[in-house]
Amino acid sequence: MKSITIIRPDDMHLHVRDNEALQCVVPFSARQMGRAVIMPNLKPPVVNVESALSYKQKIINALDKDSSFTPLMTLYLTDKTTTDTVYQAADAKIVAFKLYPAGATTNSDDGVTDLFKILPVLEAMAEVNMPLLVHGEVTDNNIDIFEREAVFIEKTLKPLLDKLPNLRVVFEHITTADAAQFVINAEDRVGATITPQHLLMNRNHLLVGGINPHHYCLPILKHEKHRLALLEAVSGSNSHRFFLGTDSAPHPRSKKECACGCAGAFSAHAAIELYAEAFDSIGALDKLEAFASRNGARFYGLPENTDTITLIKKEQHIPASFSFGNDELLIPLRANQTIAWSIDA
Ligand code: DOR
Ligand code: ZN
Repeated sequence: MKSITIIRPDDMHLHVRDNEALQCVVPFSARQMGRAVIMPNLKPPVVNVESALSYKQKIINALDKDSSFTPLMTLYLTDKTTTDTVYQAADAKIVAFKLYPAGATTNSDDGVTDLFKILPVLEAMAEVNMPLLVHGEVTDNNIDIFEREAVFIEKTLKPLLDKLPNLRVVFEHITTADAAQFVINAEDRVGATITPQHLLMNRNHLLVGGINPHHYCLPILKHEKHRLALLEAVSGSNSHRFFLGTDSAPHPRSKKECACGCAGAFSAHAAIELYAEAFDSIGALDKLEAFASRNGARFYGLPENTDTITLIKKEQHIPASFSFGNDELLIPLRANQTIAWSIDA
């Protein structure tokens, strides 16, 4: 049976929500990931060090006693973020700030309305070597949803990097050939995360044979040519810029299967297995360890994890749902279907 042993991976982009939902989803990531960069888009958002540290404690409290899973905390950037908050965050080992353009996605209402109005805050981040994690989509209603990422590169990302030559940036959950090419050509201070769903699926998986709300996430699934470009990016030259970030974004079934379903796909239950399937599909399993376990750690200036996991090419069946607390259900990616890879217990 085909198998591969890799350094334990990290998830550099993860949503774990709060309260009962948090209790339900954190163990899934802790089973396979060494660390995870925790997104701050709670309601209300995590905007200061104090709330980030209490959020971190809640995550730790949801772990088994012997778990070594480490949450890496981030703060939510708003129009009101101060330079003092940046310095406090650096002192408290907060790993990054997350930029949600206001209105771009789930819980982004408190996001930044004009990046160029908070330049002193971004300069402070560059000064303390704190990366900015960007949700890279414009929010202009006149821009087609499939083009919002490519337009963001021209309208926001390029001017931002020009204006702040020392700011380190992660272009989160990239979905297009445009973004992949931009990152490949960028300086080493620019990295990017890629989700399993964008490596495995295109927009047909969302829309053909009926709308599948569990495949609706933002940025939205794109044309097949973009998926192929992402696979090329993670396996080609300059692939060290790309790293694992699931964007696993759990929502209760009632908020996904309804008239105006919200964005987010849950993948934490089998993230590394989904990535293994994607890399195997192009004969690039030898590139999986760098993507999953080394490139992200290097970007964040962290040591690699010291233990390993072994993946085997053995089908696993994914349950139709998981409990999500409060009598709610959580529908995972591949619900009631199989994934070609498993973790060797
Ligand atoms: O699909 C998404 N869901 N994209 C995001 O950017 C946010 C996330 C969420 O928090 O649910
Ligand atoms: Zn996200």
